[in-house]
Amino acid sequence: MLQDSFKEFLKEEISYLKKTDCYRHLKILNGAQKARVIFQGKEVINFSSNNYLGLANSKFLKQSAIEALSDLGVGAGASRLISGNLSIHEELEKQIACFKKTEAALLFNCGYMANCALLSALCNRHDIIFCDRYNHASIIDGIVLSRAQLVRYAHKDIDELRRLMISHQGRHKKRFIVTDSVFSMDGDLAPLCDIVALAKEYEASVMVDEAHATGVLGKNGHGVVELLGLEGEIDIQMGTLGKALGGFGAYVAGDSVLIDYLINKARPFIFTTALPPSTAATAVKALEIVQNRPDLRDILLRQAAWFRKQLQEAGFNTLESETHIIPVVAGENEKALQFSQGLLDVGIYAPAIRPPAVPEGTARLRISLMATHSMCDLEEALEHIQRIGKKLNII
Ligand SMILES: Cc1ncc(COP(=O)(O)O)c(C=O)c1O
Repeated sequence: MLQDSFKEFLKEEISYLKKTDCYRHLKILNGAQKARVIFQGKEVINFSSNNYLGLANSKFLKQSAIEALSDLGVGAGASRLISGNLSIHEELEKQIACFKKTEAALLFNCGYMANCALLSALCNRHDIIFCDRYNHASIIDGIVLSRAQLVRYAHKDIDELRRLMISHQGRHKKRFIVTDSVFSMDGDLAPLCDIVALAKEYEASVMVDEAHATGVLGKNGHGVVELLGLEGEIDIQMGTLGKALGGFGAYVAGDSVLIDYLINKARPFIFTTALPPSTAATAVKALEIVQNRPDLRDILLRQAAWFRKQLQEAGFNTLESETHIIPVVAGENEKALQFSQGLLDVGIYAPAIRPPAVPEGTARLRISLMATHSMCDLEEALEHIQRIGKKLNII
């Protein structure tokens, strides 16, 4: 039982969140993660999923999971360094390294853990990390854990990054630039070519988070690093298996010595049970599908470009989105909530994203597309987004 004074503290915090339209609660989605789902008991078109290629419900992935379950059981039973290192983990790591064209790769239980692991294992209080202001929370948490000096630069602002790198020269042992490749709430791309050039000039290592790009961007779906021809130029790459690849887990890809070091030093790798074998098996299959089905990402990106153009022509602010993640800015938290609720009432689920996930005054709908949305889904959604957007004076 909580003490009364502690309970009072929690209640006050929650009531403040409610007063500022920042309160969150869990909602139920029934059935598989598809383009149309039952959400809160009602059928809706789903614009909230990171299952960008529709693989979370793929019969091929399910079959791989079932086979691994029946051959290898439900759980890995131990951490990788004790006795949980199964051959399916090793096979997946080899495939990821091949996919990312790196010497080696290492699995983590999710992207959040991978970022915390990487940054806390590689950096310490003698180091400095330059970080885009819109980087994912797991990167910030990893930096805080590392105790390195955190220097945030304005979103995608290479001139500011250069200025900061110059003004912080000479005082630290190691220097890192860390960036998302696709920003999760804006759907825009990091200026990676410029970042790599700066890193060379000012002797920094580059770490890239390909969470939202893996499986989607680049000729072979390898991510923004491939899209921009930067393979071999990035020191550390991470990505997740839980978004376009449809399953769960994450990877870090890079030189063998980096992976060897992480196996020995990354606490979120060492002190946790290995991924279940069925989860690893689904990722092996997902990588195979990504290689063999370029049409899935072509459909996704073509439909996203069309949808974004329609929104822009209707007068919505979609920021600098260039991908399958399309923000529709509403402004104040309350307006974003009303927008999202209005859409939900007519069978469209586009979640409202509010601070601290996005800057104050830029609360928005985060619309994420899937290759499995039909043009009818998109046309129906557009009609309602425009009608409700007008009613709320957003356009
Ligand atoms: C950019 C970025 N990195 C890392 C993560 C964490 O990945 P995971 O969901 O696998 O923990 C996310 C999750 O949304 C993300 O958007």
